Amino acid sequence: MPALAALDATESTAGSSPAGEYGSVTGSSLIYFSSVSDNTHRFVAKLGRDAARLPLYTSEPTLLATRPFVLVLPTYGGEKGQGAVPRQVIKFLNVAQNRSLLRGVIGAGNTNFGETYCLAADIIAAKCQVPLLYRFELMGTSDDVDRVIQGLDKFWT
Ligand SMILES: Cc1cc2nc3c(=O)[nH]c(=O)nc-3n(C[C@H](O)[C@H](O)[C@H](O)COP(=O)(O)O)c2cc1C
Repeated sequence: MPALAALDATESTAGSSPAGEYGSVTGSSLIYFSSVSDNTHRFVAKLGRDAARLPLYTSEPTLLATRPFVLVLPTYGGEKGQGAVPRQVIKFLNVAQNRSLLRGVIGAGNTNFGETYCLAADIIAAKCQVPLLYRFELMGTSDDVDRVIQGLDKFWT
């Protein structure tokens, strides 16, 4: 799986993230980023699954995944979609072991952003060659929650 070189030139290997030691190791099959607005966090909480949240700030050590996982991430778009992938996610995926264990992506966003709706998930899916499994708005509807629960069950069997 290629490094996210186009997003961030920094490549790190297990044991040495750019900020130093890893914050913690996780065997969770669901890993997500959510900013202070917590929309994605609220969606993930409704799934009722074990899930690991990436650190809020890039200055914090990132997580180290030890099992295959699905990544849930919101888009924070800049000009023409540049900067769409949160830097906290780039830092996490620049760890080779994390990238190698990524199996699928779920995107969060807001349709008001038009063409860049959930763009970050598209970018990660293309760069890491994993499927984009689902997209939802803000904290998701109850239908979204049901579909993702069923979809994840199917995906892991
Ligand atoms: C500055 C800013 C830029 C955003 N850009 C996009 C965008 O380009 N595409 C999109 O789908 N959503 C965009 N959003 C919406 C967020 O992805 C959405 O609010 C999401 O639920 C935030 O998740 P979080 O609260 O877990 O961080 C943007 C939100 C903000 C505040």
